[in-house]
Amino acid sequence: MGSGLLTKKPIAELMKETNEVGGLKKTLSASNLVALGIGAIIGAGLFVRTAAAAANNAGPAVTIGFIVAAIGCALAGLCYAEFASMIPIAGSAYTYSYATMGEFVAWIIGWDLVLEYAIGAATVSIAWSEYLNKLLQYIGLHVPFQWCHSPFEVDPMNPAIHGLMNIPAVFIILVLSLLLIRGTKESAFVNGIIVVTKVAIVILFIILGWSYINPVNHANYIPEPSIYTDSQGVDHSYGGIMGILGAAGVVFFAFIGFDAVSTAAQEAKNPKKDMPIGILGSLAICTVLYILFAHVLTGVASIDDFRKSGKEASVAFAIQTYMTGYGWLAKLVTVAILAGFSSVILVMLMGQSRVFYSMSKDGLVPKIFSEVHPKFHTPYKSNLLFFVFVGLFAGFVPGDIVGDMTSIGTLFAFILVCAGIIILRKTDPDLPRQFKTPLVPFVPILGILVCAAMIYGLGWTNWTRLGVWLAIGFVIYFGYSKRHSKLNNPDK
Ligand code: ALA
Repeated sequence: MGSGLLTKKPIAELMKETNEVGGLKKTLSASNLVALGIGAIIGAGLFVRTAAAAANNAGPAVTIGFIVAAIGCALAGLCYAEFASMIPIAGSAYTYSYATMGEFVAWIIGWDLVLEYAIGAATVSIAWSEYLNKLLQYIGLHVPFQWCHSPFEVDPMNPAIHGLMNIPAVFIILVLSLLLIRGTKESAFVNGIIVVTKVAIVILFIILGWSYINPVNHANYIPEPSIYTDSQGVDHSYGGIMGILGAAGVVFFAFIGFDAVSTAAQEAKNPKKDMPIGILGSLAICTVLYILFAHVLTGVASIDDFRKSGKEASVAFAIQTYMTGYGWLAKLVTVAILAGFSSVILVMLMGQSRVFYSMSKDGLVPKIFSEVHPKFHTPYKSNLLFFVFVGLFAGFVPGDIVGDMTSIGTLFAFILVCAGIIILRKTDPDLPRQFKTPLVPFVPILGILVCAAMIYGLGWTNWTRLGVWLAIGFVIYFGYSKRHSKLNNPDK
């Protein structure tokens, strides 16, 4: 391919880079992949954003939002799997698109992944802060509202008080960034324990909470369309179809991470069979758990609770307030959630530094992002810079805003991946594919439509944020990356 926006990175070069890093062993079975997926998936989306989507968008019909989001993910996931199987190396959507769709699309996806990984990590850290406060309350302590909220939030129970900085959220990002700098092996054993614990508390809550469902809370299952103004003065389309689409966009966050399975393509024993099972299997299990969980949560506590006193650490609140005799469960859930959130943040921060490491090696972002620590062999400068970036969002931006930015950014990346499959079947029909998306172009087109519907549901403030983010990306690409790209400037 010639030079310019469409320059593609030769697959042979990608393979060479992988070999330099050392070959990865093919050890993962389909069930290992499902566990990997679930480990990266269940987190703040379920334990925090579900209640927010019920309160602001759809009421109990947040369950239908989960179904819409799952359909979008399954369709995009089928496209993702083909994309990943064409290039049999570990990588992200950035790596795959550089080899298949050219530098400019790769840049957009890489830039967009910052929303998924870095801003996603900020979102989970804010959720971590809520549950930390809950844990402290059990021992009679608490962080004052000012020091665990952004300056843009007022206390829904006392509008005279507003936040200054979310210190616990910055703290957890700092601790995990330092851990990454020291170098951490994703231990399959620790991941296994966290996955089992997360799934166990979700199932426990569903089973034990079921008999505490108050039918009054579900009476108005799909609320009439209206505008709800939240305690921060933000308007939301509540109820009806728009409410459900908005809720789908919000809880879509809960599914982010299943694409992590595709990055393990090279380590799968039998990628052709195991990749779709890994991606779709973890999605299917999570979808069923999420729908049941949301049904119980909105049945145990009311929408009014989720707008006021149960707005934060909603699951622990619901158990503590309505499930008498289950105080131990509230405590167990809180501790398990804190551990689970930490592992999700770690995976996201690591994913972010890996993507920028590759982009830096390709010359699209400065070298500093691929400078490795002499002793720890980790991209420590990148980890520190991202600590500052993520920390600023964690400390000073409300969870609702960063959560929706993560959702919209990832939805946009999914649309590009779906479109990419249609284009590549035309431009490179003969490139070997270990896994083929079924029913092309029907599946990718439907994937684009469902993801676009969720973007529509997220409303114009989020469209504007995505637009601004992409515009900044274009300026950086044309101002810096295009001129420094290794492939476009082989002599440099
Ligand atoms: N899906 C992950 C979560 O919900 C990102 O925390």
